[in-house]
Amino acid sequence: MTSLIPAEYWEYSITDFITGLFASNLMNTYPESLPIPGIGNCIPVRSGRVALMLALQALPLPPGARIGVPLYCCPVVFKAIEAANCTHCFVDIDPTTACISPSDVDRKRHEIDALIAVHMFGNTCDMDALRQAVQGKPIIEDCAQSIGSKINGRLTGTFGDISFFSFRSGKYISVGEGGALFTKDQRLRTKLEQLVRDLPTPNCKEEIKHPLVTYIRSKLRSKPLYGLIGHRLWAFYNKKIDPAAKAPITISQIFKSDQALTIKRLSMVPSAIDRQRANADFYSKHLHTSKDMLFAEKPGTFYNRYLYPFKLKSMTARDSIAKFLYDHRIDAIQPYRDIVDYAAKQYGYREGCPVSEQTAKTILAIPTHCHLTDKDRYHIVRSFNDGLKAMGTR
Ligand SMILES: Cc1ncc(COP(=O)(O)O)c(C=O)c1O
Repeated sequence: MTSLIPAEYWEYSITDFITGLFASNLMNTYPESLPIPGIGNCIPVRSGRVALMLALQALPLPPGARIGVPLYCCPVVFKAIEAANCTHCFVDIDPTTACISPSDVDRKRHEIDALIAVHMFGNTCDMDALRQAVQGKPIIEDCAQSIGSKINGRLTGTFGDISFFSFRSGKYISVGEGGALFTKDQRLRTKLEQLVRDLPTPNCKEEIKHPLVTYIRSKLRSKPLYGLIGHRLWAFYNKKIDPAAKAPITISQIFKSDQALTIKRLSMVPSAIDRQRANADFYSKHLHTSKDMLFAEKPGTFYNRYLYPFKLKSMTARDSIAKFLYDHRIDAIQPYRDIVDYAAKQYGYREGCPVSEQTAKTILAIPTHCHLTDKDRYHIVRSFNDGLKAMGTR
């Protein structure tokens, strides 16, 4: 199926590959700063997960600190908490945003030493309510998915004690790996800079291999190879590999190629967000969904629409629509569908997060990336509406 529309766009052209290769050979120092427009000078790191681990190490927390984290979350966040020798306190999400619930934080405040506020899908957490709920405990803002999202005109990444970004393939800045840390607190910044300086640097062979591997993987995630072989390869990998072994944390400084390409691409993010928001508006207008299925922007918020997810009424309905879409050559994803089992098995989650549990079972995200053509968008809308009709369900 050469025309399968990928759920994500792993942008990495031959020019990017050559730029990356040059950077990996020619840059002989690791610049200590990465300027993100509207945020400030960030500290570059290997990945978002390493950034989170370092943020937890830099904060003045007690040994084995209890970290409030949404149960409905990217599993590498749980791994980073473990890598920092902290423990997990699972918090539920708000059904209207899929972000951590301030009222559940309020209930669990005494079990928490610090909080991770994940701006899930580019939707924004209610940062004012979270600040009130934690009553002075530190907040790490996870902006891995929310670059460019805003609350009352202020960018996500400027609210936390420490915040971090991810530039991993599939995200807005899709350079392979790469992440960045930001804080306005000079003492924390000095500590973070020192922690990063103490990390090993990738060796010359790893530096050269990285752009090559990123290029090949990106081609396999793009038309036409994705439909021909990539989709099956990823499905096979996901089935075979134990979730605990997947997505490891490799602790090092950033790859030079990731840093060079991130700097090159940062200025293009606003126009990419405009295009993805236009896709999201198109879907909101034309999909036969009810309002409660969607994540509408709340007054004063601006979502980057990194993903366009919605909730179906049951797991069966969600899985049937996903299959219907795939048969119509649309790759829809079911983000974090196994997260509850994973948290239970690896980190002892028992109960207490019913909204997260329901969300993991019923959520679906259709392609919304900025490289969709008009024809793709019409095809996605028509197929989705046909799928709903065929199933007689919402
Ligand atoms: C919400 C969230 N937090 C953290 C991360 C970790 O970022 P990275 O993949 O760059 O390590 C990711 C991405 O995978 C993510 O989606």
